[in-house]
Amino acid sequence: MNNTRKKLIVGNWKMHLNVHEASTLLHRLHEHISAHRDVEVVLAPSLLCLQPLSVELDRHKFRLAAQDAYYKDEGAFTGEVSFSMLRDLVHYAIVGHSERRIYFGEDLKVVREKVTAAVRNKITPIICIGENSEERKAGETKQVIHDQLTTAISNLTSRDIADVVIAYEPVWAISTFGGQIAKPDQIEEVIRYIRYQIKELYGAKAAEQVRVIYGGSVDDSNAGSYLEIPGCDGALPGSASLSYHKFAAIVEAAHRQQLKQA
Ligand code: 13P
Repeated sequence: MNNTRKKLIVGNWKMHLNVHEASTLLHRLHEHISAHRDVEVVLAPSLLCLQPLSVELDRHKFRLAAQDAYYKDEGAFTGEVSFSMLRDLVHYAIVGHSERRIYFGEDLKVVREKVTAAVRNKITPIICIGENSEERKAGETKQVIHDQLTTAISNLTSRDIADVVIAYEPVWAISTFGGQIAKPDQIEEVIRYIRYQIKELYGAKAAEQVRVIYGGSVDDSNAGSYLEIPGCDGALPGSASLSYHKFAAIVEAAHRQQLKQA
């Protein structure tokens, strides 16, 4: 793995914080996080907060991600916001989060359409994939990862893949769904499998270039052990990203890890 590539830390604020609260958290983060060349910090507030935060944030420190968007560019789809509308506002969009799959019934095809729409609109998708606890217990983890991954990226070219982010988020490790603490070797095995699948489909270069990050109860106490997993390019904390001191500590852990590897 290329040691010089940046670690990517994405805070998924989920459906928390109104505009005022989000702005307060942004200011706290600004005070507590220093810009590091080797760490990219991305914030994923609610859709409503993207526009106000975009004018407030220090672009040397933070980038924005949407938590979701709709795959049609425009039309009669009451209540939806499209990737094309978010185009100049965000660098990234989380796609296929397990909460979307489980609570809102997003299936493999919807996730694929969203990934395609994000790429079409020059937004980098952070594609979330991961098995639930029953699937893990039944020994189906690789099958689930295979199906979710290969469907999600099936419309992409190898050039598209180089810019995509895959987030391995085992459902059983997400705080919303029980939040068991995953062991680094469990994560390492799946990350290796994700790159193997990309290699099979797009070749060795794409497998090396694609960024793979981990999410699931990442906090300031365990981030270091996850960020040093071979092939792990970063982290996607949820609850810990709502605490400025925990999130700042995760960013610092990423920077320390980079210094160790340099
Ligand atoms: P937690 O860090 O709260 O487990 O959430 C992880 C997650 O779902 C990030 O997308």
